Amino acid sequence: MQHMNNIVLIGFMGSGKSSVGKLLAEQTHRTYIDLDQKIEEDTGDTIPNIFKNEGEEGFRKRETEVLRALSSREGTVISTGGGIVERKENHDVLKEHGPVIYLHASFEEISARLEDDESRPLWSKPEVERKNLLEKRLPVYKECADELVNTDHKSINDVVNEIESLI
Ligand code: S3P
Repeated sequence: MQHMNNIVLIGFMGSGKSSVGKLLAEQTHRTYIDLDQKIEEDTGDTIPNIFKNEGEEGFRKRETEVLRALSSREGTVISTGGGIVERKENHDVLKEHGPVIYLHASFEEISARLEDDESRPLWSKPEVERKNLLEKRLPVYKECADELVNTDHKSINDVVNEIESLI
C-alpha cells in the first residue's frame, strides 16, 4: 500500500532531484528527505569515501537500508541517489513510499550541469562509461516511474510546477 502524501524523485545524477526536491517540498509544505545526505549523516563520512572504503556494493547496501527505513514517513519529498534503481528489490519499496516521478535529462544536459564534478564517484569515469551507465539505467527509471518529467532546458521552478500539476 502506498503511504500518504509522499513524492519520490528518481533520475540520473544531475537530473535536478535535490534542487527540485527542496523547492517542491517547500511549495507543497512537505518535509524534504535526501537519501544521500542521510547516508552521509548516518556514517559520518562522504559518499566518495564510502565508495573507496566499502566499494559500490557497500554503498548500495546502505542506500537500500536507508530507503527501507523511511517506510513510516508521511508528507515528505524523497530525493534518491541516481543508482537507487540498480537493486531490483528497491523498485517496489520506491513505489510503496509514494508516486514515483522520474526526472529525465539528456546526456548533453547532464554533462553541462555536472561538468567535471568530483563528488560523484560514478561520474568521475571516462565519458563512454558515464554514457553507458545512463543508457543502461534509462529503461529502468521509466519502468519504476509513475510519471516522467523532462527537465532539459527547464528551470527548477518549471519542473516543480509540472510535478505539482501531475500529483
Ligand atoms: C550515484 C548517484 C549519486 C550518489 C552516488 C551514486 C549513482 O547521487 O548516490 O554517487 O549511482 O548514480 P545523485 O544522483 O544525487 O548524484
